[in-house]
Amino acid sequence: MCGIVGYVGAKPALDVVVEGLARLEYRGYDSAGVALLSDGRLATAKRAGKLINLRKALTESPPPAGTLGIGHTRWATHGPPNDRNAHPHTDCGGTVAVIHNGIIENFATLRAELEEGGHTLRSDTDTEAVAHLIEDELKTAGDLAEATRRVCGRLEGAFTLVAVHTGDPGLVVGARRNSPLVVGVGDGENFLASDVAAFIAHTRDAIELGQDQIVELRADGVTVTGFDGLPAEVKEYHVDWDVSAAEKGGYDYFMLKEIAEQPRAVADTLLGRIGADGRLTLDEMRISDQELREVDKIIIVACGTSFHAGLIAKYAIEHWAGLPCEVELASEFRYRDPILSRSTLVIVISQSGETMDALMALRHAREQHAKLLGICNVNGSTLPRECDGVLYTHAGPEIAVASTKAFLTQLVAVYLIALYLAQVRGTKWGDEVFAMVQLLAQMPEKVEKVLETMEPVRELARSLAGEHCVLFLGRHVGFPVALEGALKLKELAYMHAEGFAAGELKHGPIALIEDGLPVVVVVPPRVRDVLHDKIVSNIQEIRARGARTIVIAEEGDTSVEPYADTLISVPAVPTLLQPLVTTVPLQVFACELATAKGHDVDQPRNLAKSVTVE
Ligand code: AGP
Repeated sequence: MCGIVGYVGAKPALDVVVEGLARLEYRGYDSAGVALLSDGRLATAKRAGKLINLRKALTESPPPAGTLGIGHTRWATHGPPNDRNAHPHTDCGGTVAVIHNGIIENFATLRAELEEGGHTLRSDTDTEAVAHLIEDELKTAGDLAEATRRVCGRLEGAFTLVAVHTGDPGLVVGARRNSPLVVGVGDGENFLASDVAAFIAHTRDAIELGQDQIVELRADGVTVTGFDGLPAEVKEYHVDWDVSAAEKGGYDYFMLKEIAEQPRAVADTLLGRIGADGRLTLDEMRISDQELREVDKIIIVACGTSFHAGLIAKYAIEHWAGLPCEVELASEFRYRDPILSRSTLVIVISQSGETMDALMALRHAREQHAKLLGICNVNGSTLPRECDGVLYTHAGPEIAVASTKAFLTQLVAVYLIALYLAQVRGTKWGDEVFAMVQLLAQMPEKVEKVLETMEPVRELARSLAGEHCVLFLGRHVGFPVALEGALKLKELAYMHAEGFAAGELKHGPIALIEDGLPVVVVVPPRVRDVLHDKIVSNIQEIRARGARTIVIAEEGDTSVEPYADTLISVPAVPTLLQPLVTTVPLQVFACELATAKGHDVDQPRNLAKSVTVE
């Protein structure tokens, strides 16, 4: 997510805004910029790269001193990270400046309308259209707040906007839909920010803005209304976090924050990709429908958690798109002689887009003339630049080394690709694809529901902190979930943990079962009765040998109760989508157990967030 700061008061606005942006640096970003109002004139400065580049530009060419300003750190979603695409964005006349956090789904239509109306847009971003729309509305609206309100009524998607206008040099206007926006209430000064870390050095009195609200910020007061223009209820609170905790949104660890952000991340990754008619629109992939029809084999390459997403993708692609799909560890793929051709689609999954094993595998595939599609969370990283097409996950910056929200959004991305392949290749009827897309669209609330019931999982994790080994079992898409659960425990709790296909038990692993050994079993939905019955048998087998069974099953599945020492229920969802809900308890389990062992879950020993060496 992008970082937003706004200020109006008596202090030098540039210092307050840039310092506020510095407090938001932890969120990750790829460019930064400011806009300042002074003597009725608007001055802007923006640079790609880290904040130091912006500070250098401001030192070289200091803007006029002023006491009102806005600032932004960008996490690119539309358009590469460069000076031109950095925020703020201004209108034709240079009298309106806008910064934005989120995704405006209908920006292409709005942009076309503006250009037909004679506006000149200079960037690739969705945000710039807003500055020009406000410019138009100011011709008839009484003030910036009303103009902004009217524009918000035309936007689709998730957006938090902050705007200033030379016509009212004492006013900062903010608008919130989905992405967070908080007000800092000072004495003769007021602040706006995407989170309190930006202003708690100045004030700890805050107001959290609600959905579809407009805030008018002046030095002597704050007014909050709805998009309907009526006065709005606001939630005032006092921030008692320290700065470090504020950066984590009040959570002790970024990992906890990122686990909690998963419903939003899943929703944001779906945004703009499901048309009003329920059909999928993935033209951003830049691989034509005809090219996709000519694909005769898919190979997915990735590492670690991203590899587990690839394993789940295999089930979805084979079932929905009817295409053969192989999944390879990137570090192995590179050293074997894969049989590729121009009709092979190689999908490289990487959160960071900088994992050297994945990049080398990509280059190996390119030498064999395969078509390359990236699934990545970082706009402007190496992976998207070297692929023919890319489908971005919109998880926002993932700071903790252990991947959580990025993994769930990778699953959403692979589901979208598998369903899109089915749609363009006709391997599933339109209504079948439509029905599954509608179920996928419900997943943010299903993930939210899981998060609301995690206290028993935390208690269980703390009770197992003294264990030396935990096994994880699953069948079908539950098998990669078992692998992911084991990886989380390895990398966070430094414990021996292993994931198995439950069907493999009798082929060796059952020898590991001993009295009291904790074994987590991911049970498929009951609708998959054969699969379900087999794994219930597996639970009986291990329990008969003394295992402590921790069973994750869909709510209402009473058939597993007699064999579960601990039963964790998750919402009932379609088989292929189940990893979106069964993975979350394993993330929480690993995080809590590691915390109970006193580990730093954000920075586990020996690990890096992105492995940029082979
Ligand atoms: C997952 O929790 C680990 N941090 C690690 O396995 C990670 O998934 C792997 O290194 C791949 O990273 P990438 O997605 O950035 O390529």
